[in-house]
Amino acid sequence: MRTAIIYISKHGTTEKVAKLIAEKQKHKDITLLDLRSITKPLIESYDRVIIGGSIHAGMIQKRIKSFCEDNLDLLLKKEIGLFICCMMKEKQNEQFENAFPQKLRDHCKVKGCFGGEFVFEKMNFLEKLIVKKVAQTDISISQIDYEAINLFVDEFWKNKKN
Ligand SMILES: Cc1cc2nc3c(=O)[nH]c(=O)nc-3n(C[C@H](O)[C@H](O)[C@H](O)COP(=O)(O)O)c2cc1C
Repeated sequence: MRTAIIYISKHGTTEKVAKLIAEKQKHKDITLLDLRSITKPLIESYDRVIIGGSIHAGMIQKRIKSFCEDNLDLLLKKEIGLFICCMMKEKQNEQFENAFPQKLRDHCKVKGCFGGEFVFEKMNFLEKLIVKKVAQTDISISQIDYEAINLFVDEFWKNKKN
């Protein structure tokens, strides 16, 4: 059984989470696919697909959204896990709902909202301005929900040997 973890990350947090998920199941056949460089992954060759992105101004990356829409029929034949990284905990459910098509959300085996990070060193001027204004902070912070990641991984591979 092969698993693809398909993701996009702006400042590295979603990538960190994707790698952590793969690391936690390192004896399994898992391929990490960054959708910025591999624009058309061959999902036919995977049995399970995990898709993750991050939220900026309320939205997941456009490429994640269109990837899900364009490949919906194929994805509905796979075991699916969906996750987002975001900092507004009070909005995470709404942002998750907006991020993925309803059919895919209904079909997916596991959903995750894994918190996120503000990495000021990687932000451009405008991003710094927005975060300072909206989140009232000008220092880097990490609020990754490692517990939620563990639960996601346990549930996704529950009773699976490979
Ligand atoms: C410019 C900017 C806008 C953001 N907007 C939102 C938002 O609307 N909602 C939210 O929950 N988090 C928001 N975030 C937090 C990101 O989702 C968080 O930084 C996440 O960890 C980014 O992951 P990435 O580095 O993988 O892209 C924003 C972050 C930045 C820098």
